[in-house]
Amino acid sequence: MNKNKIVVAYSGGLDTSVMVKWLKDNYDAEIITFTGNLGQTKELVGLEEKALNSGASKVYIKDLTKEFLEEYAFPALKAGAMYEEAYPMACSLGRPLLAKTLVEIARKEGANMVAHGCTGKGNDQVRFEVSVGALAPDLKNLAPLRTWEFKSRDEEIDYAKAHNIPVAVTKDNPYSIDDNIWGTAIECGVLEDPMVEPPADAYLHTVAPENAHDESELVMIEFEKGIPVAVNGKEMDSVSLVRLLNDIGGRNGIGRIDMIENRLVGIKSREVYEAPAATILHFAHKELERITLEKSVAHYKVKIAQEYSDLIYNGLWFTPLREALQAFIDKTQEHVTGLVKVRLYKGTVRISGRTSPYSLYDPALATYTAEDQFDHTASEGFIKIYGLPFKTYNRVKQKVASEKKKAVA
Ligand code: ARG
Repeated sequence: MNKNKIVVAYSGGLDTSVMVKWLKDNYDAEIITFTGNLGQTKELVGLEEKALNSGASKVYIKDLTKEFLEEYAFPALKAGAMYEEAYPMACSLGRPLLAKTLVEIARKEGANMVAHGCTGKGNDQVRFEVSVGALAPDLKNLAPLRTWEFKSRDEEIDYAKAHNIPVAVTKDNPYSIDDNIWGTAIECGVLEDPMVEPPADAYLHTVAPENAHDESELVMIEFEKGIPVAVNGKEMDSVSLVRLLNDIGGRNGIGRIDMIENRLVGIKSREVYEAPAATILHFAHKELERITLEKSVAHYKVKIAQEYSDLIYNGLWFTPLREALQAFIDKTQEHVTGLVKVRLYKGTVRISGRTSPYSLYDPALATYTAEDQFDHTASEGFIKIYGLPFKTYNRVKQKVASEKKKAVA
C-alpha cells in the first residue's frame, strides 16, 4: 500500500510527465492524473497512454469547455473584465475551474494531496493553490517545479530517459503556450525582449491584420441578459458560438494583444495573446450596454469591473468578494438583451448598429427635429443651480484677491 494518493493536474508535457514519476517515488504515492479540456486546439489523443506509461494508475480526461464558457468566461464578459484594460484573462479564468475539478477528483478518489506543474514565478501557482485551499482546506498542495532538483529542461529529459518516461521528441517550440477556447497566451523566446515585434510564427489562430482579406465582414451578435446567444441570426450553444467567432475573428486579424503586464508576484512580463472571439464579444457587449444601462449604473460598473478583474487575475475566484461583485454584475445585466452589428476589417472591430427592446435611447428626446420633446426651458433653472457652487467659490476668491491688491497699493 502506498502512503499517499496524489491527483496531478496533467498536461502531458515534459514537466508534468516527469512529475508523475518523481512524485510517485519521492512521496511513495499512487498517482492519478487529471487533464481538463478547455477547448484548446491541441489534441488530447494519446494522453491517457502517456500518463499511464509515466507511472499513473488512473487517468481522468474531462471536457470542461461548456462549463468554462458558461460559468467562468461569460460571467467575466458580463462584467467587462479586462486585466489592465487589455487582457480578457483566458488563462486566469481557466485555473479556478481546473482547480475545482482537481478537488472533485481528489475527493472521489480519497486522495490526500494534489499537485500542479506551474513554475514558481507565475500567477498560475497562486490561482491553483488559493483555489484548492478555498475549496478543500485540508488537501495538501504540491508544486514540485518549485523544489525539485532539475535545473534545466535537459536535466528533466535525462531523468525521463533514465526512467522510460515517454517524452515527445518533436522540434522544440520556442514559445510557452497556454491555449483555450477563450484565448491563447504566448510567452518566452524572442518575445522576452519587449522591443521585438512578435514573429509571425508566434500566432496560432489569427492572420496578421495586413494579410487579412480586403473586404470587411459584418457580424450580428444577439445577447440575452448579457450572454451571447446567436450569431448572424442563428441561435447557437456557447461552444459553437465562441468557436465560430474565433474563426471569423481569426481570419480578420482580430484579437492580437501585445502587452507588458504586472504579475501578482511582482514581475513585469511581456505577454502576447490571441483572443478573437473574446475581443469581438467584449466590444459588442459594451456597445449593447451603452444603449441599455442607466447612466449611473454604467459609470459605476466600470469601477467594479476593474476590482473584479484584479480578483480574477490574482487567483481570488472562490472568494466572498468575487461572489458578491458577481451578484451586482448579474443584476446589471437584466436588460442587456438585444442585437449588435459589428464590422470587422483588418484587425479592427467597429460598431455598425445596435438595438434592444430595453433601449433607453429615446428618439423623442435625442432628436434635433420638430419632433423634439425635450423641455429646453427646464435647462435654464438646472444650469443656474448646477453651476451655483462654482459661482459662489469664485466670487469669494476674486473678492479676497482684490482686497489683498488694495491693501498692497
Ligand atoms: N500571463 C497570463 C496570466 O497570468 C498567462 C500565463 C500563462 N502563460 C503561458 N504562456 N504559459 O494569466
